[in-house]
Amino acid sequence: MSSMPSSSPPSAGTPRRVEHQQTDKGYVPVYTTDVVRQPWDDYTATDHDVWRQLFARQRRLLVGRASDEFLLAQDAMGMTPDAIPKFDDLNTVLEKATGWSLVGVEGLLPELTFFEHLANRRFPVTWWIRKPEQLDYLAEPDLFHDLFGHVPLLMNPMFGDYMQAYGRGGVKAHGIGADALVNLTRLYWYTVEFGLIRQQDGLRIYGSGIVSSKGESIHCLESDAPNRIGFDLERIMRTRYRIDTYQKTYFVIDSFEQLMDATGPDFTPIYARLATQESYPAGTVLDSDRVFHRGSGEGWATDADV
Ligand SMILES: [Fe+2]
Repeated sequence: MSSMPSSSPPSAGTPRRVEHQQTDKGYVPVYTTDVVRQPWDDYTATDHDVWRQLFARQRRLLVGRASDEFLLAQDAMGMTPDAIPKFDDLNTVLEKATGWSLVGVEGLLPELTFFEHLANRRFPVTWWIRKPEQLDYLAEPDLFHDLFGHVPLLMNPMFGDYMQAYGRGGVKAHGIGADALVNLTRLYWYTVEFGLIRQQDGLRIYGSGIVSSKGESIHCLESDAPNRIGFDLERIMRTRYRIDTYQKTYFVIDSFEQLMDATGPDFTPIYARLATQESYPAGTVLDSDRVFHRGSGEGWATDADV
């Protein structure tokens, strides 16, 4: 550590802002594990303005597009565009509703640390928010993605239980091996991050990666390009995905109960079975799929599914 003059001591207790770093291999994730106090008094007018702009823009887009559960929960938590919410205030509401709580973190967590938080009904929220020039895209989770996108549905008892079950499953998969983790990560990706749900009045969004993205909020429901296919646990665990473009396929659940029920069985024999099977490209449609919409494939990149 560099020494600092005694007249300007390092701000003890102020969390770091840990972001991906640009290297000769492109942007690489940097991991952090500390739980930190939200430095709410340190947010600048610009930080609050970024929150305000993003909140107002997404809420406008999401009425009629996001699931009713999501919108109601966001209101019930008291999230507003006025200012970046205080984690302590949200926790008062959330803990009473479902026993979940938010913990502040400095950036991306290693998998096991993340799973352990979820297994204990703690949701890690990045304390810092993106810069004004990053309104439309950021490679890593920030406060807006985590808080606006992930936190509202933790108010829903069934979804909250699913998230905890996922965390427990993650700890277990971590002990089983890398292939099991790949299978489980696909489940998170196609549900928690990019899931759609069927309501009586049509398909709606519940995935956090979508609700926090202006472009994808429209694309996932209204574009002809992507597939929209009924939820199927093993099918999803075999399906690769995109991290650099909109998804080629979205999976549709009928209810959060369906999601919770799917995590009931022990995944260990499923991982063993999947280990002997090929994965599916992100855009594949199978004969066995329940197809809501078969994608036109327009604009799809031909490689780089992960
Ligand atoms: Fe996320």
